[in-house]
Amino acid sequence: MTESQKTADPCVMVIFGATGDLTKRKLFPALYNLANDGYLPENFAIVGVGRQELETTEFRDQMIQNLKEFAGENGNEERIKWFCGRTFYTGGDFDDDKKLFKDLKELLAEVCTSMSIPENFFYYMAIPPNLFANVTAKIVKNGLGKEENGHWRRFIYEKPFGHDLESAKRLNTDLLKILKERQIYRIDHYLGKETVQNLLVFRFGNSIWEPIWNRNYIDHVQVTVAEKLGVEQRGGYYDSAGALRDMIPNHIFQLVTLTAMEPPVSFEADSVRDEQAKILQAIKSFSPEDALHNAIRGQYDSGEIDGKPVPAYRSEEKVSPASATETYTALKLSIDNWRWADVPFYVRTGKRMATRHSSIVIQFKRAPFVLFRDTPVERLTTNRIEIHIQPDEGITLHFGAKVPGPIVKMGAVDMDFNYVDHFGKQLSTGYERLLFDCMIGDATLFQRADMVEASWSIVTPILDVWSAIPPRNFPNYRSGSWGPKEADDLLAADGRIWKNTEA
Ligand code: BG6
Repeated sequence: MTESQKTADPCVMVIFGATGDLTKRKLFPALYNLANDGYLPENFAIVGVGRQELETTEFRDQMIQNLKEFAGENGNEERIKWFCGRTFYTGGDFDDDKKLFKDLKELLAEVCTSMSIPENFFYYMAIPPNLFANVTAKIVKNGLGKEENGHWRRFIYEKPFGHDLESAKRLNTDLLKILKERQIYRIDHYLGKETVQNLLVFRFGNSIWEPIWNRNYIDHVQVTVAEKLGVEQRGGYYDSAGALRDMIPNHIFQLVTLTAMEPPVSFEADSVRDEQAKILQAIKSFSPEDALHNAIRGQYDSGEIDGKPVPAYRSEEKVSPASATETYTALKLSIDNWRWADVPFYVRTGKRMATRHSSIVIQFKRAPFVLFRDTPVERLTTNRIEIHIQPDEGITLHFGAKVPGPIVKMGAVDMDFNYVDHFGKQLSTGYERLLFDCMIGDATLFQRADMVEASWSIVTPILDVWSAIPPRNFPNYRSGSWGPKEADDLLAADGRIWKNTEA
């Protein structure tokens, strides 16, 4: 959002899946934070749609409880009241367009009239992806999807957007038959994270990095998204998805593209997304041979997290006891373009890892040895920029310094920038910016159809090889560790090691 645009357009947010987890944990708290910061207009309403038959008053009661539990400051009374007066609900069967969608249409008309809101609607699909096309078609069929008389209609889709290349293409085709691409907002909540957005400012708002941000100076890049959590209650979904589908073509590729892309000609949505798409097209696709050597999979065994025993993945709720699903993935990616030729991007993500930590590490090449001929190689410092995404957001520059004393001895030091120290603590769920952007029609931080398809085409060959050759050594890493040994071997083969943080 720019400083000039302080409030969103008057509109109604329609949430499909309004009684679900995402709505209560993220969407309502995000709206709450936006309202607190003055970004929501007075002419704003929320219509929840769910399978449960609830009265609006019952839905408001649930919302109050949820805001008290999940919103910052535990929900301020005044603000909660503001929300209550603007929240409505209608429930029913999503397949039945005779009833539910007619009710929705009437309710929207009533809300718009009584609250003087122009008929700008945005639909948030917090529902299983297999319902996306169907629900969208019913909205459109009932005359609620077409943009006319200057009113906009936008559709936000939660991930996963497809299950593989084929299904993503099918979904794009189905949606594009009834909507315009500019009405479609494919969300990736990683783009709502401050540090992820800061990547653009860090790279392109400073002049000192760009000249060295290439193969002449950078040895390799590491992207890590490590989680301590296991699959929690999501075994049903996760066991048919796995770490690769769940994290790589979306969150991890966002981090890779923002790190690797060329400077866009402007911050307009399509300029930024064109550059991201070019990186996705330049990532070398995996042959079956590459998939065997440069894609590692792992599954967690029992172990300890924070000193407490935790079960193996195969013993989790709704997970098959013989599951071959990976909970860890590491890939070696090659970006075939002039900037990045021969600079590997190692990416990894896993559940039940030693610590919760997401970062991008830019590892620079070693300085020439000449001056330090007598220093053992392991003591020679290399430069590194670490972009910390979570839990502590910030940036560290790692470099060598002389240890004080009569002899020239080299030590390693860090220069740290921490977001909270400089800017104070922001209450944020990561969804605020994305919801606001949708309300002002800025799609920069949303995925375009071609990006989604390019991402799936990179990983689909790996999925094919993995499903043809079941893993023989699962589970292969202990909960609370840094993942399987094969992932360390992947880097060791290139003479490199993962940058792990302390637990
Ligand atoms: C979701 C995945 O998209 O991202 C989850 O489905 C994962 O499996 C989550 O836990 C991670 O998000 P964050 O913001 O906690 O890093």
